[in-house]
Amino acid sequence: MISLSSSWHMFVFILVMGSRAFALDTYIAAVYEHPVILAKNASQLVSSAEALKLMNKNIDILEEAITSAANQGAHIIVTPEDGIYGFGFTRETFFPYLEDIPDPQVNWIPCIDPERFGPSPVQERLSCLARHNSIYVVANIGDKKPCNSSDLKCPKDGRYQYNTNVVFNSDGKLVARYHKSNLFMIEQLLYDSPEEPELVTFETSFGKFGLFTCFDILFHDPAVTLISNLHVDTILFPTAWMNVLPHLTAVEFHSAWAMGMRVNFLAANIHRPSLNMTGSGIYGPDGSRTYHYDLKTLNGRLLVAELDSQPSRSPSYLPSLNWNLYASAMEPFTQDHNFTGFIFFDEYTFSELTKEAGNLTVCQKGLCCHLSYKMTEKHEDEHYVLGAFDGLHVVEGEYYLQVCTLLKCRSTDLQTCGDSVTTAHTHFDSFSLSGTFSTNYVFPEVLLSGVQLAPGEFQVLSDGRLMSQNRTSQPVLTVTLFGRWYEKDPPHPYTHHIIF
Ligand SMILES: *[C@@H]1O[C@H](CO)[C@@H](O)[C@H](O)[C@H]1NC(C)=O
Ligand SMILES: *[C@@H]1O[C@H](CO)[C@@H](O)[C@H](O)[C@H]1NC(C)=O
Ligand SMILES: *[C@@H]1O[C@H](CO)[C@@H](O)[C@H](O)[C@H]1NC(C)=O
Ligand SMILES: *[C@@H]1O[C@H](CO)[C@@H](O)[C@H](O)[C@H]1NC(C)=O
Ligand SMILES: *[C@@H]1O[C@H](CO)[C@@H](O)[C@H](O)[C@H]1NC(C)=O
Ligand SMILES: *[C@@H]1O[C@H](CO)[C@@H](O)[C@H](O)[C@H]1NC(C)=O
Repeated sequence: MISLSSSWHMFVFILVMGSRAFALDTYIAAVYEHPVILAKNASQLVSSAEALKLMNKNIDILEEAITSAANQGAHIIVTPEDGIYGFGFTRETFFPYLEDIPDPQVNWIPCIDPERFGPSPVQERLSCLARHNSIYVVANIGDKKPCNSSDLKCPKDGRYQYNTNVVFNSDGKLVARYHKSNLFMIEQLLYDSPEEPELVTFETSFGKFGLFTCFDILFHDPAVTLISNLHVDTILFPTAWMNVLPHLTAVEFHSAWAMGMRVNFLAANIHRPSLNMTGSGIYGPDGSRTYHYDLKTLNGRLLVAELDSQPSRSPSYLPSLNWNLYASAMEPFTQDHNFTGFIFFDEYTFSELTKEAGNLTVCQKGLCCHLSYKMTEKHEDEHYVLGAFDGLHVVEGEYYLQVCTLLKCRSTDLQTCGDSVTTAHTHFDSFSLSGTFSTNYVFPEVLLSGVQLAPGEFQVLSDGRLMSQNRTSQPVLTVTLFGRWYEKDPPHPYTHHIIF
């Protein structure tokens, strides 16, 4: 007994020592916002050689970013969705861009053994970039899997085509492959969804990682499950994100998701101002470490920043968070002058902030939103409203929302409240926003004039209040609690109608 027990202790001791000896408390992350080079005519079928030529042009640019990130000590770099071939394809014209990407269990370093699974020039090159620079490389490419009539779901053209994230570790080994679940509208014309959402994670000496792609962020699976069941520390997020104000601009929503889910989040977006695609960042649970938003130039941008390997062990980590605790316990403030208006096709109940300082409640269905605020100075030519929405959003995807929002109206006409607006003049000395949410998945957003984030200027309390720390450094565009009530989503949220 004694010898058994002591050897067990020794085993535990070695394990603990082992993990201490190798684990890093912090690591350096990089993301690259890439001005992707598009095919001249994506609806025209090209040869595999032609397709590879375009992809190599994009990888040439990614190579500079990867090398530069490695030189700055980065352990991992994320590159954007569609960053290697662009977009605009049909199912047929996309085919020459695809490679067969094996399950990482095969234990493969394409850089050393490129022909093992047939021609894989893109995987080979990405693997070599990771290996030669000793850095984890995250990229988004297309996977093809042949199928036949023995599979009743096999598409007519005899293959599945997947929007796929791959990760090569610092030896160049393929360590993760994730097929996107929640395809955005026209993507369904060229890609297939996996039958079940895939939960893809991998462990490193600098924490546990999980990955998903772009539109996936709005749905429960796999995004939420990676955190609530698999306890990943950092999400890797390639995206091709078109900004929508006031609530769904990339830097705003992605940083809010990191804070609401209390996880690190590495978001790499395409850079294409003509399509409103910009906004990449390195986000921790307590705010942005660095981010980039630029509609003015056509340049790419590499971001590098340090993060905690395991944010749940940091002293600032909230052990528990109940989003409706404060709001449900308090007496509602006065409610008057309600009117309705639209934000991104959703009908909100609004109430105007008529005074320089005040307390206000607005309700819709089961959701009441409470705001206490003090403006530094009330500008007569700027109108702000408090809004509540409790309902199913049905345009460009179906998902159930509960939202409390303070926002600036586009003009003094209250009909414009909820329209896209990018600048403001009104500073706030303080704000405190809370809501009687029926969900515990709420993403806190603060967006300032010029579409800027406000790291360190606000905090979330464990009772669900979103509070300013101090006078805002820039005038305010919006302060929002963006809640997702996943249980109320229609079934199979990731197979919705195509809307043009
Ligand atoms: C692109 O290619 C398609 C198919 O070959 C053709 O019908 C279309 O006219 C082309 N568009 C342009 C702008 O060249
Ligand atoms: C059909 O596909 C399955 C699995 O992909 C394969 O094992 C089988 O040989 C194929 N059958 C034919 C007739 O190609
Ligand atoms: C980009 O965003 C602006 C402001 O929200 C909007 O007016 C414009 O139509 C958008 N452009 C595209 C291509 O979606
Ligand atoms: C505003 O909304 C609340 C809750 O929906 C309602 O009780 C109140 O009567 C409304 N006030 C006005 C002026 O419409
Ligand atoms: C808002 O309510 C708080 C108490 O919740 C009170 O201290 C404060 O004076 C009120 N502010 C205004 C402007 O009514
Ligand atoms: C708030 O702002 C004041 C004046 O700028 C400054 O003195 C104070 O340190 C700030 N407090 C915090 C918590 O940032």
